[in-house]
Amino acid sequence: MRIFRSLIPILLLSGSFLMTGCQNSPSSMSPEAVEARIDSMLSEMTLEEKIDMIHASSSFTSGGVERLGIPELVMSDGPHGVRHEHGRDWVKDEGVADSSTYLPVGTALASTWNEDLGYQFGSVLGREAAFRGKDIILGPGLNIIRSPLNGRNFEYLTEDPFLNARMVVGYVRGVQDQGVAANAKHYIANTLEYDREYVDVQVSERALREIYLPGFKAAVQEGGVHTVMAAYNKVNGVYSAHHQYLLDDVLKGEYGFEGAVISDWNAVKSTMGAVQAGLDIEMGSDLPMLATGNVDYSKFFMGDTLLTLVGDGSVEESLIDEKVRRILRVMHRIHKFDERPPGAYNTAEHQAVARAIADEAIVLLKNEDTLPLQQSEVTSLAVVGANATRKHAGAGGSSQVKAFYEITPLEGLQNLLGSNVDISFSPGYEIEREGGPDQALIQDAAEAVSGADAAIFVGGWIHGYSDDWNDNAYDAEVLDKPDMNLPFGQDELIKAVLEANPNTVIVLVGGGPVDMRAWQHDAKSIVQAWYAGMEGGNALADILFGNVNPSGKLPMTFPERLEDSGAHALASYPDENLVIDKTDDIYVGYRYFDSFNIEPAFAFGHGLSYTTFDFSDLRVEKQDDEVTVQVTVMNTGSMEGAEVIQIYVEDKEASVARPTKELKAFEKVFLAPGESSTVTIVLEESAFSFFDENAMSWVAEPGVFSIHAGSSSRDIRQTANVEW
Ligand code: GLC
Repeated sequence: MRIFRSLIPILLLSGSFLMTGCQNSPSSMSPEAVEARIDSMLSEMTLEEKIDMIHASSSFTSGGVERLGIPELVMSDGPHGVRHEHGRDWVKDEGVADSSTYLPVGTALASTWNEDLGYQFGSVLGREAAFRGKDIILGPGLNIIRSPLNGRNFEYLTEDPFLNARMVVGYVRGVQDQGVAANAKHYIANTLEYDREYVDVQVSERALREIYLPGFKAAVQEGGVHTVMAAYNKVNGVYSAHHQYLLDDVLKGEYGFEGAVISDWNAVKSTMGAVQAGLDIEMGSDLPMLATGNVDYSKFFMGDTLLTLVGDGSVEESLIDEKVRRILRVMHRIHKFDERPPGAYNTAEHQAVARAIADEAIVLLKNEDTLPLQQSEVTSLAVVGANATRKHAGAGGSSQVKAFYEITPLEGLQNLLGSNVDISFSPGYEIEREGGPDQALIQDAAEAVSGADAAIFVGGWIHGYSDDWNDNAYDAEVLDKPDMNLPFGQDELIKAVLEANPNTVIVLVGGGPVDMRAWQHDAKSIVQAWYAGMEGGNALADILFGNVNPSGKLPMTFPERLEDSGAHALASYPDENLVIDKTDDIYVGYRYFDSFNIEPAFAFGHGLSYTTFDFSDLRVEKQDDEVTVQVTVMNTGSMEGAEVIQIYVEDKEASVARPTKELKAFEKVFLAPGESSTVTIVLEESAFSFFDENAMSWVAEPGVFSIHAGSSSRDIRQTANVEW
């Protein structure tokens, strides 16, 4: 039993990282000295040289000034591993050593509710990016998970703004302590892939402030993120890459962002739009040129056109200076002009981190006395489902990773059980776009499970049919899912195997919820395995056989059916005018389900354990502008395990409509059998506030608030009231 595995990498890595890692600060120079040096560099640059720096110089670099010893900025995807090499003109470099550590995806990381693991995740990503010579790693993806259909949900973290903020801070610091810039993306409200380059997201100021902005605010103000990526979509009629209010007023003004805003690839649509708003680097406008066979980086919107516009006074040169200043500031902060730690690559420590995250990411959704399987009682094991042998790292879009290796669920079980157990495998279904269930495969699978001591089904979503990211399906970029139904006839297969062996464990791979109504009540155990990275198969095997006690908690609501989701009940899918009217507003995720009394299949924050936890002695006390919350949790079972104490705040007397409750704190505790822990959490005024659109400020109204302590948003164990 290794519930505390996640502490090991911290110990392993802390030494090496602290030795080679570097503080998240400008090089050895003081901020003032850096700014003075930037002034001096700017004074020596010609207008042409400045313009070269504010747009791409190749597929994944932006321009430098060789004459002055200013190198190009080198960027790479992605959010859960350093992507393969592209070459300068989108022609993949062959034969280069560009495999990397394939970490669990964003939703898996968020399911750990473990901020330390967020830091370790970022540290591994930063070290591998440094080793591969990358200055900027294009992650974290922190768009809010609003619709279950969004193709890129797997890359993001959660539906809840507070969990989003907490998990993104460690990730950013981890990356940047390795001397590499993180990139908070996609700013903002890019919550569907449908016609992403042209949709216009209509969203209220309050929803922006309470739901969509908090993750980015935390990345900037607590994580110190060096770069932000402007999204493709419009927000309230203006392209994100041209959005003066969101880029200049909010991000750079209110939040104090000092780094550089990079456009998503080909997200810039006009010269004046980009140059006058707070966009600092235009990327990807070469993509449309590729088809013409004539790629000319000076022809970018923020390219040579600006020479004329500055020349005729249409554009102030000072606007361009400010962009270059920010780029040079990032360069200083990532040690472009001095010694950056060398980084490392495909190391045992990195793989240990991937494993530790996977261990804590996998969520036990349902368990009626079937898990953990007892190794001593299993001599024959039937494994069913094409996802048991499928690898996922290489597809899904720009977040693809050429994994150094990837342990599938079947390999993980074989690694754990060795030759002591007779393991059979039946695909049960074929991964293909069309065509219904294959009755012969179903029959084989049903026969296989009926005679086995234990049976495990592994199904769910896939990223794509191949490693070519344009061949996408389901959990992938550019595409949203058609619905929440399991594809390839899996429902019929699951019903058949459950009929043949009612104890069959149902394991789902994927980035989010599926419609389980056809079999959910017949299944005795259901496990959400996400895309759990290169060590995912080993982690899954350890959990199913009880070597690791699951502690994952859902970072998003799992609806019974799609139409129960607020994004589909209250809002519409993009119409022919390509408008996404977020009329669900602040009612995203559990905020909707709770406030509108809709029962989900599995609630936000839900996740079972092989042990049990008792909450007691909740105390809340207000002193000045803070409320101190204290609660005790005891492990009342026979196995060591971890519980996430979730604190939700409910405004009982609000003058405006507010969600029934909102997550405002959490703490993960690891407890031995019989051990208890009393946690103390301080809630500040922000935990009680809502955003007043009229006053354009946060307001904590006087009145009664309920403080709920729970094991999930719907499993509230203790409640106490406090007067604000
Ligand atoms: C893609 C993605 C973005 C990625 C970039 C570079 O279109 O939206 O997340 O980092 O282009 O590949």
